[in-house]
Amino acid sequence: MKYPIRSLEFKNNKLFLIDQRVLPQKYEKFICENYKDVEFAIADMVVRGAPAIGVTAAYGVVLAALEFIELPKKQFLVQMNKACDIINNSRPTAVNLMWAIKRMRTLLVNNDTPKEILQKLKTEADNIADEDVKTNKKMGQYGNSLIPQKATILTHCNTGALATVEYGTALGVVRAAFEDGKDIFVYADETRPRLQGARLTAWELVQEGIPAKLIADNAAATLIRDGKIDLILVGADRIAVNGDSANKIGTFMLSVIAKTYNVPFYVVAPTTTIDFEIETGDEIEIEERSSKEITHIRGVQIAPDNIEVYNPAFDVTPNENITAIITEKGIISKPFKENIIKLK
Ligand code: MRU
Repeated sequence: MKYPIRSLEFKNNKLFLIDQRVLPQKYEKFICENYKDVEFAIADMVVRGAPAIGVTAAYGVVLAALEFIELPKKQFLVQMNKACDIINNSRPTAVNLMWAIKRMRTLLVNNDTPKEILQKLKTEADNIADEDVKTNKKMGQYGNSLIPQKATILTHCNTGALATVEYGTALGVVRAAFEDGKDIFVYADETRPRLQGARLTAWELVQEGIPAKLIADNAAATLIRDGKIDLILVGADRIAVNGDSANKIGTFMLSVIAKTYNVPFYVVAPTTTIDFEIETGDEIEIEERSSKEITHIRGVQIAPDNIEVYNPAFDVTPNENITAIITEKGIISKPFKENIIKLK
């Protein structure tokens, strides 16, 4: 059965998220009725992927306004700012989250009544969601211009419709090439520990009928060395002004192998993923997640009790390993710093 892949939908004053924790075995909706539900949904990765997190956060602010709407203006603004802080801190690495909250917060400092503010927040969240879809389609077009008529593409993590509102970033480029009739084959990294590749990317590829194979992360080097990969497409959670890009753990390793074997390595991300306030990737906070993600697989313990764990959720790919960055404003090539600043 083919399921609609829109990661989120706001209706009847509730936010409906596809619950990405239970895919592909179950296609279920997680309903956020208030902003605390949104904080939980982002932190627990009901919803994940930088752009999807940003849009979810924006609707979280709308839910907060609905909750506090009857308060006098001053108290309303105090509670709204607290809610924004809480949502803002739900995950640290994807800058789209902070970007969306900042954009929503600008509507809290004016002379409007709470009801007027609520209306404006709702419109703004809808705009952010609509812009995300348009942005993805644009990146798809630009990215497709780099894809040969016949190509084998390696991906990491999930960068598809589930990681955005619809369509996707890196997987959006795959979609665009496939829709264009190109002879595309995808190798999808399973992406330990959360298995976004196995559970989510593979599911999207099967839904779309895009020819693909799922691989253990450890198989990527062999495929690249053996000349089986024409190009690599990955997403990003935060890009520094010099082009250093944080993405799912394992991306850096892939970039090193790609460089060794001269395979083009493209980062596909909207300009909302660029953090113009940081010069290099050293300034990016890397989230560390629960040790259980490593010691257990889907609830089953695979490591001994008492073993210590190191579990960073992201790593930073240095700009010198990146061939180009595909954004909705065009394909950014080197020198990244000079070209990224122009996007501001
Ligand atoms: O921990 P996640 O699943 O939120 O990490 C997601 C990624 O690393 C994606 O590659 C990135 O957000 C870009 S998604 C369009």
